[in-house]
Amino acid sequence: MELIKAQRGTQDMLPSQAGKWQAVESVMRSEAEISGFREIRTPVFEDTRLFQRSVGETTDVVQKEMYTFEDKGGRSITLKPEGTAGAVRAYLEHGLFNEPMPVKVYYITPCYRYERAQAGRLREFHQFGVEMFGSALPVADAGLIAFAHSLFERLCVKNLTLKINSIGCPSCRKQYAEALKAYFTQNKDRLCETCLSRLDRNPMRILDCKSPECAEVAKDAPHILDYLCDDCRSHFEEVKDLLDSIGIEYEVDPTIVRGLDYYTRTVFEFVSNDLGAQSTVCGGGRYDGLVEEMGGAKTPALGFALGIERLLLVMEAQKVQFPEEEPCELYIASIGNAARKKAFQLVQRLRECAVEAACDEMDRSLNAQMKYAGKIGAKFTLVLGDDELASGKGVIKNMKTGEKKDIDLNDNFEEQFAAISSEAEDFGDLKF
Ligand code: HAM
Repeated sequence: MELIKAQRGTQDMLPSQAGKWQAVESVMRSEAEISGFREIRTPVFEDTRLFQRSVGETTDVVQKEMYTFEDKGGRSITLKPEGTAGAVRAYLEHGLFNEPMPVKVYYITPCYRYERAQAGRLREFHQFGVEMFGSALPVADAGLIAFAHSLFERLCVKNLTLKINSIGCPSCRKQYAEALKAYFTQNKDRLCETCLSRLDRNPMRILDCKSPECAEVAKDAPHILDYLCDDCRSHFEEVKDLLDSIGIEYEVDPTIVRGLDYYTRTVFEFVSNDLGAQSTVCGGGRYDGLVEEMGGAKTPALGFALGIERLLLVMEAQKVQFPEEEPCELYIASIGNAARKKAFQLVQRLRECAVEAACDEMDRSLNAQMKYAGKIGAKFTLVLGDDELASGKGVIKNMKTGEKKDIDLNDNFEEQFAAISSEAEDFGDLKF
């Protein structure tokens, strides 16, 4: 029979990779909590209009990449292509604006984009993201960038370039859009179909088109930084000054406009020099108009998201040492049914004390059980047979040093084992 395979652009996370995922996710969670962010989980699917309104009708994400379908009740549903829209919806729907400002949330979520799959570009991928509502101050922008920066440091990721830009506010962007429109109209014949339709509606989107011809034209387009109003300019200057004051290096890159429509003022990306084409590991910025556009009060807001698969690709390319998974502490081998029962009981008692322990579940020979204990990297072993059952005594063997210690099988087994294993504890190299 034909085996059914995973869908193009999707990946299984296998048990052998679980340790890496859990390690990075636990650092993300702890860093987020240290910075005052609390977790939010929003549904994987939403009303399609949520993304059309927030991400924007003329973006690649909405025009080409959404997983949209009609459900059995005739509603148009879309699998979330990113995390911000759902977070904003939940913020409004549940009145989170009544909480002390700023409201700070983080999430780890799968996202779905129908893109051409390649290394680092998937149709189902995972984002770690943060959103912050209520602060219009440049300290919030700089603080968020500093947060992402220190997260990468904690994860031992090197060789990232932080690129920042300001894309202004609706008032300064009006003039800029005119200038862009004039420029792209002159180069109309070199633009793709989608960009021709963007010319009138949202010429800034052309700057972000993935078609190589459009990218070539976009190279010489006017820069938004030359059109910023005084407020946007001084906001940007202050963000840069704050970053300078804590020694975070960045490049001002006037070509960064981001692929989603909701951004205003500061936008930023962390780009890896160790990835191929899909080199942006993390991206974000301010979106001061979005909450109001979605039906809330005027609320400045900002956030970023990083792609976990891309992050892991960079970490693997840089050979970052992941913390080793805890191996089995004690494997209790057994000969015969009575000994297997005793092994089973002792294993349960150890597990109740949160000690990773195992016994034979396969009816293996003693020899095969010991081989298995080696394969799973058991730190200690104990062999139970008729003699051990009769005497109530066994021998714990340290698999690394070969050292042996007697243990009473019927009197405080867990405590005796804890003493033996803590004596032998070796705290190898500390990882991130
Ligand atoms: P984004 O730049 O579209 O921003 O995505 C953020 C990150 O998700 C990217 O930098 C990349 O690492 C990862 N990513 C995006 N698409 C894919 C894909 N097809 N395959 C693998 N990884 C991908 C946002 O989504 C915004 N919501 C970020 C944000 C939050 N801005 C404000 N708050």
